[in-house]
Amino acid sequence: MPVFEESLAESAQAVNELLERLLPLEDLPEARLLEAMRYATLAGGKRIRPSLVLAGAQLFNVAESCALRVGAAVELVHCYSLVHDDLPAMDDDELRRGRPTCHVAFDEATAILAGDALLTKAFEILADSETHSDPAVRSELVFELARASGAEGMAGGQMLDLVAERHTLDMPEVTRLQRLKTGMLIGFSCEAGAIMGKAPKPIRLALHAYAHDLGLAFQIADDLLDAEGDESEMGKKTRKDDAAGKATFVSLMGLERARAQARLLVDQAIQHLEIFGEKAEPLRHLARFTIERRA
Ligand code: IPE
Ligand code: IPE
Ligand code: MG
Ligand code: MG
Ligand code: MG
Repeated sequence: MPVFEESLAESAQAVNELLERLLPLEDLPEARLLEAMRYATLAGGKRIRPSLVLAGAQLFNVAESCALRVGAAVELVHCYSLVHDDLPAMDDDELRRGRPTCHVAFDEATAILAGDALLTKAFEILADSETHSDPAVRSELVFELARASGAEGMAGGQMLDLVAERHTLDMPEVTRLQRLKTGMLIGFSCEAGAIMGKAPKPIRLALHAYAHDLGLAFQIADDLLDAEGDESEMGKKTRKDDAAGKATFVSLMGLERARAQARLLVDQAIQHLEIFGEKAEPLRHLARFTIERRA
């Protein structure tokens, strides 16, 4: 296995072990909720966001144990967003990460609660002194993840995504939608290391700029995979965006131009990493992986 793929697999493995410990199954009357949370979190997923947290934290020599906890927190928010995204009231999907979606495996009410509890668990983890010794850093992590997840972030983007089914959005509107829906959580993942490492503002801005381009490229890749990817490789249904009449970069630009745009954004993202030299190599690999992936 090439070195980068190996280290991606190692990061995923480390975060998987931590997630397993953070979501213990207990013999309680409400155990069904814990089972649904574990179901939605523990099997599959590329773990890109935690990998970005780990790669960003390396730049500032942050302890891996701290970075892993922050990576686990953002992955929990992401898993919650997928559980709710798949609900009948939203994308109404039955396949996720190669298995029945949470509401299919359990039921809708349990899936809604599992999403709620995954989201709040993320903040419980960030607020815990085990995550960072400095309360100001913990509070900033909580603040930034909350902002990235809520109305100004992922949830706001999901609202725009619903609007996109009924109205024709133009390019600036789709760009904003994608930045909120996907870009904000990716942004948090890229900047979390700088927060933990108390990096000076200009340094953090470079990571912000990297994340800005990467987030868009990531969602364009998701939309391209929806249009031309392989369902069994991806573990989720494809050709959904077109069927839902959803405005995406692919619907607005066509496949070729969308692909070119994603490549351009990744090159641009990588240029923002120059100040970090060799140390940013994992972040460069992650950027390329974002558009080369087949799932
Ligand atoms: C899919 O995210 C949903 C989007 C935000 C585009 P990922 O492609 O990271 O999904 P997993 O975590 O690997 O399943
Ligand atoms: C979902 O976007 C983004 C989230 C915030 C969950 P999609 O609806 O395109 O994600 P998939 O294709 O179902 O994974
Ligand atoms: Mg969706
Ligand atoms: Mg979806
Ligand atoms: Mg999609």
